[in-house]
Amino acid sequence: MEIDVFTLFPQAFDWFREQRHVRNALALGHRLDCVDPRESSTLAGRSVDDTPFGGGAGMVLRVDVMEAALRARYGGDPVELPRRRRVIALTPGGRVLDDAWAAELAAQPELTLLCGRYEGFDERIVEHLCSDSLSIGRYVLAGGELAAMVVCDAVLRKLPGSLGHAESAVEESFSPALEGRPEYPHYTRPADWRGWRVPDVLLSGHHEQIRAWRRERSRARGGPLQ
Ligand code: ADE
Repeated sequence: MEIDVFTLFPQAFDWFREQRHVRNALALGHRLDCVDPRESSTLAGRSVDDTPFGGGAGMVLRVDVMEAALRARYGGDPVELPRRRRVIALTPGGRVLDDAWAAELAAQPELTLLCGRYEGFDERIVEHLCSDSLSIGRYVLAGGELAAMVVCDAVLRKLPGSLGHAESAVEESFSPALEGRPEYPHYTRPADWRGWRVPDVLLSGHHEQIRAWRRERSRARGGPLQ
């Protein structure tokens, strides 16, 4: 899979790239590239934003700057791009990411994520240059970079081989294997900590009973997210 992140702060991803599951995914041949729209800006001083029409606080990312950045990266008319690949604007008001959507995105061969800053995007970026707008939750971050990393993290860990042998993304919270429910609780040593004991069934060695107990605990923790 190839992920391009359009960001004014590419260095923000240096730490993320070093994380084990990301390194694993990159070593398997997947790609995570950052593209800085400032580099293709033809405006004075490589400017990328401007004040909002109608007044108001902050600055807005310009549609012509994003158009130039997409054209420089992919060629052709960027308005046609969302028909060929998923181009996703990261914005607090977008469709909220959940496990099912992360799985759908993980099945894409190519993904483009656009990070906003300041007051966000000129709405024409979202309307005419993107296939989707995505929110990681109903709160406002200073920019889309952390949201892009959340998306990349949720997507990359679903790619076969990015988690080590010891871990698995199959039976985890919100997965189809758990019918979209939260995961069951986990315990490790000591089996007795200050009188709080690990449930006996987990120490019993009865795999069938353990499976049944875990399903029951997962169900008790809640229904699938809406
Ligand atoms: N940009 C700023 N806040 C955001 C959020 N909550 N989700 C996605 N992108 C954002």
